[in-house]
Amino acid sequence: MSAYEHILTEKNERVGLVRLNRPKALNALNNALITELMHALSEYDADPAIGAIVITGNERSFAAGADIKEMADASAVQMLTADHISPFDRIRSITKPVIAAVSGWCLGGGNEVAMSCDMIIASETARFGQPEINLGVIPGAGGTQRLTKAVGKALAMEMVLNNRTLTAEEAQQYGLVNRVVPVERYLEEALALAAEIAQRAPLAVRLGKEAVNHAFESFLSDGLADERRSFYFLFSSADQKEGMAAFMEKRKPEWKGE
Ligand code: CAA
Repeated sequence: MSAYEHILTEKNERVGLVRLNRPKALNALNNALITELMHALSEYDADPAIGAIVITGNERSFAAGADIKEMADASAVQMLTADHISPFDRIRSITKPVIAAVSGWCLGGGNEVAMSCDMIIASETARFGQPEINLGVIPGAGGTQRLTKAVGKALAMEMVLNNRTLTAEEAQQYGLVNRVVPVERYLEEALALAAEIAQRAPLAVRLGKEAVNHAFESFLSDGLADERRSFYFLFSSADQKEGMAAFMEKRKPEWKGE
């Protein structure tokens, strides 16, 4: 695959850059975009000329979540058998450092992609959240697990159960992001950090990344599997259908608890 439809790629010396590129949909992560993203990451990972990777969106939105329009009508069985969330796991298995450069909306699956990266550089305008509760579902790509480990139980509960969003400054305060910089500089800052790391001893960088992830991810796999089953299960509920229909119809959902 050399030409992508939903992402743009470019190399800056030893740094591979991927831009999510569905601006009209605020970079909502449809299945095609996720497939392209994972393909591009794998190519950079296999390329000895690349030492680090940056994933970004645009100023308005890193990504506003999984594509609601694509999954709104799916049944739980279809969600389970298609298992579209599994490709998200690929980010975690990239051996080179991956930095998310985030501006604007970083919601739902978007936040889950950012949290699957090794570091996050945020613009002052970035907003982080897990708004799945508004749709009658829960995060399905690691949100309940990685968020809780990053920001702690109290805040994760508010974010997952009550759509609390974090400003960039709050996200830094709670340990979700590395640095916050003015919007004009967030990508430049992420690229500079990636370039610095890309100059370092590749094997030590690789094993250092692996070791830190090991500390962060002990017991993560059980939690991830549990979360994914619950996410898929919710597609058998009337509330998921109502929540996603209400989003598309731009109205308030009416919950039935069934
Ligand atoms: N999926 C599909 N389309 C989306 C989208 C999404 N996640 N987010 C935004 N869009 C689309 C909107 O439908 C709209 O399209 P139209 O112009 O065709 O109507 C376009 O992007 C622009 O969005 P808005 O007009 O809504 O922009 P806004 O500035 O008024 O609001 C927003 C921005 C608050 C981010 C709002 O778009 C929003 O709430 N988006 C949904 C966020 C969300 O719920 N994310 C979680 C998705 S589920 C998930 O991610 C599950 C998982 O864990 C894997």
